Amino acid sequence: MGTDRVKKVCIIGASGKLGQYMVGHALQRGYEVVGVCRERSVPKLAAFEGRMTVVPGATNDPEVIRRAVAGCDGVLTVLVPWGVRQYASGTAQAVLDHARPGARLVFSCGWHITRDGKDRYSRLFTLGVRIAAVLGKLVRAVEIDDQVEACRRVFASDTRWTVVRGSSLEEGESQGLPVWSRHVGDPVLAGNLTRRVDFALFMVEALTDDTLVREAPAIVGCLTPSALAHAGASKAPWSHE
Ligand SMILES: NC(=O)c1ccc[n+]([C@@H]2O[C@H](COP(=O)([O-])OP(=O)(O)OC[C@H]3O[C@@H](n4cnc5c(N)ncnc54)[C@H](OP(=O)(O)O)[C@@H]3O)[C@@H](O)[C@H]2O)c1
Repeated sequence: MGTDRVKKVCIIGASGKLGQYMVGHALQRGYEVVGVCRERSVPKLAAFEGRMTVVPGATNDPEVIRRAVAGCDGVLTVLVPWGVRQYASGTAQAVLDHARPGARLVFSCGWHITRDGKDRYSRLFTLGVRIAAVLGKLVRAVEIDDQVEACRRVFASDTRWTVVRGSSLEEGESQGLPVWSRHVGDPVLAGNLTRRVDFALFMVEALTDDTLVREAPAIVGCLTPSALAHAGASKAPWSHE
């Protein structure tokens, strides 16, 4: 899809940190922006008042999503595993069911999601995810398994999806578009750090990048030592091994 074909985008989870950065990038590109967020979080979008439409509601409510994505060429979804009521998979399903056929659908998640099982994780990373999953479930606050289920449904769909898998994140000024690779464990990703603003940039750029359709890029900041070493070796700004 060329840039000129994206005119209106919906950002689901717009009030969060990643969501607000995506709203900023989308407005900068001149897109018409609709955002979905919980009613109580609408004030977090005050800085964008008059420049976007906000649809308040739960992101896993099919009716809310149906209204929000109407007429949108692209949908950017922040997949979060909150609670124990299948919030992430409900959100993904609502988007898959209601986005218009042919729309670009871009979802966010972390490196822990694997598409083909070929990612190679450090023991520390695997342990961290396991502990987070068990503790999260114990206190009924986080359901990591449900984010896995959400992505499984996206991977199985015949929509024009991209699942962007974020490394560890940090705040700070933009450093530019992150680099990506198909598998965690690929040397270019070793830096394991991305600025959140650049994660958002990658999500918005993906709307108009057809090479990312049905890909699950794992991303890392373009100025991390591993990304710089890779760029020096290949002289290519983007990498997918
Ligand atoms: N944090 C990391 O280190 C990290 C690393 C890699 C990838 N990621 C991925 O990056 C994306 C953004 O994550 P983030 O950690 O940076 O957070 P974030 O952008 O601040 O987003 C958090 C989202 O969760 C919503 N939320 C918070 N509590 C909720 C609740 N109890 N019920 C329903 N929704 C709730 C927030 O909505 P409100 O504004 O309404 O609170 C917001 O939309 C996610 O897809 C995550 O998997 C994160």
